[in-house]
Amino acid sequence: MVLAISLFARSCCRLLVGRLSWLFPLLGLVLQGCYLLLLPSIFFPMLSLQSLLLHGGWCKSAKPASKVAFFVGLGPNVGPVEQNTDLVFDKVVTNVGDTYSKQTGRFTAPYNGTYQFTVVVAAQGHQKAAADLMKSGKLVFTVWAESIPNWATSTNTAILELIQGDEVWLMLQKRACFIHGYMYSTFSGYLLFNTAEGE
Ligand SMILES: *[C@@H]1O[C@H](CO)[C@@H](O)[C@H](O)[C@H]1NC(C)=O
Repeated sequence: MVLAISLFARSCCRLLVGRLSWLFPLLGLVLQGCYLLLLPSIFFPMLSLQSLLLHGGWCKSAKPASKVAFFVGLGPNVGPVEQNTDLVFDKVVTNVGDTYSKQTGRFTAPYNGTYQFTVVVAAQGHQKAAADLMKSGKLVFTVWAESIPNWATSTNTAILELIQGDEVWLMLQKRACFIHGYMYSTFSGYLLFNTAEGE
């Protein structure tokens, strides 16, 4: 009995499928059309929701925008000096984020983060020049150049972890105080990445 029913059902089905086989491509097309029509209407609201979440402020990171980069150089020569003297680089080429002060010659960290600094020191003809890279009053390194007999330029790069408000600057040493200007001596730095809060 069960066998008979199942055989009957199977042949009915086969007949139906045989008769209606022309319907399937059509059905496929209709479904495809629906899909194409529906797809954008499903995804566009999701996309706009996403952009709202990302740019609309709901998910805005607590971290500030991280655009910090400066590049400054000495105009005229500096030296000799009687005392160790803070160098004020008067040629400000780049100062994104306004972190370098032309008045004091100091960089002030706007965020907790890891920063990179490059110091280039050139000595005036037949003289010595040495500049100390200072981080909030502590010596990081000295860059020493001697233009003896002719010309010399020295450089070094520091990667420093700073907290907001830390100052970084250069101090000219009195024992090697003839530093060359005209953009031969420069100071530059930028934020590599800021520290996530709580780290
Ligand atoms: C920056 O770092 C200091 C010292 O680790 C910490 O006390 C301070 O909360 C940090 N500031 C921010 C904004 O994360």
